[in-house]
Amino acid sequence: MNITLVRGDITEQHADAIVNAANSSLLGGGGVDGAIHRKGGPDILAACRALRASHYGRGLPTGQAVATTAGRLDARWVIHTVGPVHSPDEDRSALLASCHRAALRVADELGARTVAFPAISTGVYRWPVDDAARIAVRAVREAETSVEEVRFVLFDERAYEAFAAHVR
Ligand code: APR
Repeated sequence: MNITLVRGDITEQHADAIVNAANSSLLGGGGVDGAIHRKGGPDILAACRALRASHYGRGLPTGQAVATTAGRLDARWVIHTVGPVHSPDEDRSALLASCHRAALRVADELGARTVAFPAISTGVYRWPVDDAARIAVRAVREAETSVEEVRFVLFDERAYEAFAAHVR
């Protein structure tokens, strides 16, 4: 599998699957979540609501992933995953790694070959971007998956440099 880095807006990417940094409600939010719902249109939220009404009555647990339509995005699916909120006194690294593994597992179930990831948990959830990059790249590298390209789409230079330092 290839790991590539792109500086830009994940909602502009063409990929089989675009990963959303969601929250457990699956009902939208700010950051990546807000952008995906805004650009992707109401079909994504409708699909999320259906998931809440069926398998995820209490919401999507942190570290897990689930797919919906990508609506108007240039992708076939959005894979929603819930990152851990960074905690100074509890090591939640395994949950952040799990987001990446779970998203790739869902991608494999769908037959997705190219998957675009944002820097999960590094915004509202306040995870230091260098540490998040280390965890994300390692989790992707170690995953057993048929995905051919994992593309990290970084919104700012700081995040881009952080990921570049771990992909080299
Ligand atoms: N494309 C790519 N990356 C983006 C975009 C975008 N359009 N918008 C923001 N980012 C970057 C942020 O700069 C940050 O580095 O994505 C990273 C993750 O930030 P958040 O979107 O805030 O996600 P997270 O930290 O995981 O927090 C999730 O925020 O938006 C709410 O509903 C969401 O409650 C959930 C929480």
